Amino acid sequence: MKLNVNGRDHDVDAEPDTPLLYVLRDYLELNGAKFGCGLGQCGACTVMVDDQAVFSCLTPILLLEGRRVTTVEGLGSPEKPGALQQAFIDEQAAQCGYCIAGMIMRAHALLQRNASPSRSEIVTALEPNLCRCGTHMRIIRAIERAAGKRTAAAKEAGR
Ligand code: FES
Ligand code: FES
Repeated sequence: MKLNVNGRDHDVDAEPDTPLLYVLRDYLELNGAKFGCGLGQCGACTVMVDDQAVFSCLTPILLLEGRRVTTVEGLGSPEKPGALQQAFIDEQAAQCGYCIAGMIMRAHALLQRNASPSRSEIVTALEPNLCRCGTHMRIIRAIERAAGKRTAAAKEAGR
């Protein structure tokens, strides 16, 4: 099967019902998306398909012919993080980091359809994604920062 991931076409020799998450991690060595529950209940595996955030653990690759998959690796690199990734770094939004790639991709989908979301819109959008470390407030602040909603004073105070 052909898969387009982060703007590159890949020929993947996997069964059509293989979950996208396994293909990303085991075939393409894109390990940002994580296996948490495998049941669509935690969001650790979240990536984007076209403009939608999806649970890659529940998305068989047979649905992806001709579609664009974007993973956290597609937004930037450790040397050159994208704006949203940089905002997560600036707000120190990660504790263990297990949920963070999924959070970033869920937030990326939100910011693509709503460049200036309110706090309650951010909270609602993130509902499918869980953080067992409880860094939700820092994650929300990172998304607000990326959306340009945090004031200079708040940024300077590190709040
Ligand atoms: S691993 Fe996909 S939602 Fe939990
Ligand atoms: S930072 Fe540990 S699960 Fe979110």
